[in-house]
Amino acid sequence: MIEIIKKKRDGQELSKEDYTQVINGFVSGSIPDYQISAFLMAIYFKGLNNEETAVLTDIMMRSGDLIDLSAIKGIKVDKHSTGGVGDKTTLVLGPLVAAAGVPVAKMSGRGLGHTGGTLDKMESISGLSVDMTREEFIERINKHGIAICGQNAKLVPADKKLYALRDVTGTVNNMSLIASSIMSKKLACGADAIVIDIKVGEGAFMKTEEEAKTLAKIMISIGAKMNRNVIAVISAMHQPLGFAVGNGLEVKEAIDTLKGNGPEDLTQLCLELGSHMLVLGKVCNTYDEGVAKLKSLIASGEGLNKLRELVEVQGGDVSQIDQPDTLPTSQYSELLKATKSGYISELNALEVGLASVYLGAGRETKDSIIDYGAGILLQKKIGDQVKKGDPLAILYSNEQSSFIKAKELLNLAYQISDTAPQNKPLILNTVS
Ligand code: URA
Repeated sequence: MIEIIKKKRDGQELSKEDYTQVINGFVSGSIPDYQISAFLMAIYFKGLNNEETAVLTDIMMRSGDLIDLSAIKGIKVDKHSTGGVGDKTTLVLGPLVAAAGVPVAKMSGRGLGHTGGTLDKMESISGLSVDMTREEFIERINKHGIAICGQNAKLVPADKKLYALRDVTGTVNNMSLIASSIMSKKLACGADAIVIDIKVGEGAFMKTEEEAKTLAKIMISIGAKMNRNVIAVISAMHQPLGFAVGNGLEVKEAIDTLKGNGPEDLTQLCLELGSHMLVLGKVCNTYDEGVAKLKSLIASGEGLNKLRELVEVQGGDVSQIDQPDTLPTSQYSELLKATKSGYISELNALEVGLASVYLGAGRETKDSIIDYGAGILLQKKIGDQVKKGDPLAILYSNEQSSFIKAKELLNLAYQISDTAPQNKPLILNTVS
C-alpha cells in the first residue's frame, strides 16, 4: 500500500491490480483508514486519467451486490441528479416515462443535508412503502412499468466507506472521485442507459458550467467503457426548482405538473430529461419527438394515472393523489415579507434548503423524524418584482419555535435589487 500511495503522490498512473488491492483491502478492513486517507489526498492533488477512473469505478461497482434487471423487458433507462433543492423531477418523470413505455426501475435515496430525497417525498403519501423484495421490484416493473425503492444496503459498500472518509478528509471535491462514486452506484443498479442531471450553482457540488462539463465528460467516458449510453444535462441550481420545498408540498407540486399546471422551470427540466430517456429507451427517435410524446401524456392524463397506479401498487392512499389537499400540511404557517421594493435578484438554493430542514422537512441528525407537511412555498422567484410588505414565501412547520431561525435563513436567501436581474437559462448544456 505504501508503494501505491507513493506512486500516486508522484503522479504516476496506477494499474488495475493496484486499484483492486486498494479497494478490496479497504472494504475487507485489511488496509487502515489512514493509508486510504493519504491515497485519497494523493488522488485529490494528482488526479486520475479517464482509464484509471473507469477501472476504479468498475472495481467499486463490483465491491457488493450487482442488481440484475435482465428479467425486465425493454431498455432500462435510469436518471440521476447530483442533488438539488425542490427537485421533485423523479415524481413527475418516472410516471411519464413509464407511461411512454420505457421501464422505470428506480432506486432512490433519502434527503442529504440541505437537499431532499425521493424516498422521503414518496413516504409523505399515507401508507406508501418503498420497501420490497427484488422479485417484487422486478414483477411490479414488468406489470406496471415502474417501481421506486430504496437502495440495497449491500450495493457498492466501497462507496459507502470511501465517501465517509472523503467527507472528513477534505477529498470530496475531486472530479474522478465524484464520477466513480455516482457511476459505480448507477451501474450496480443494472440500468442499460443513464441520464444524469448535473446541477450547477450555489449549494451544488459543481460551481461552474465548465466544472460540470468536465464531470459530464468523465461520466460519459466511464459509461462508454462499460457499454452504457450516458447523456448528461447540465442545469442551473441558482435557485430552487419550482415553488415547493418540503416533502408533502413537493408531491402536490408534482401532481400539478402531471396535470399540466406545474411551474415552468420544473416542467421544462422534466421534458428535457424525459425526452432523452425516451430516446435512450428507443421509444422515440428524436429529442423533439420525445418532448411531444411527454406533452401528450400530460395532456391526456396518462402520466397522472401512472402516478396513481404506482402509489396504489406501493400501498399508498390514492385518494391523496385525487385530492392533493389531503396530503400532509403542518399545523402552523407564517409569511416571510419583502423588507423593501425592487426585483428579486438572488434566491440562494442552499439557504432555502437549510431553512426547510430547520422547519422539519429534512433531517438534522441521522435519527431525526421528518415532518412531512413542513417546508416552504416560495411566492416570488428570481426576476419577480416586489413591493415592500409583499409575501415572499409561506413557511410551514409543526414546531412553532422553528420559524424565527428559518425566517432568518430565508431572509438571507432572498436578495432584492433596484433593477431587474438578467434572465439566466435553466438548461445550460447537454453532453452526450
Ligand atoms: N454524490 C455521490 O453519490 N457521490 C459523490 O461523490 C458526490 C455526489
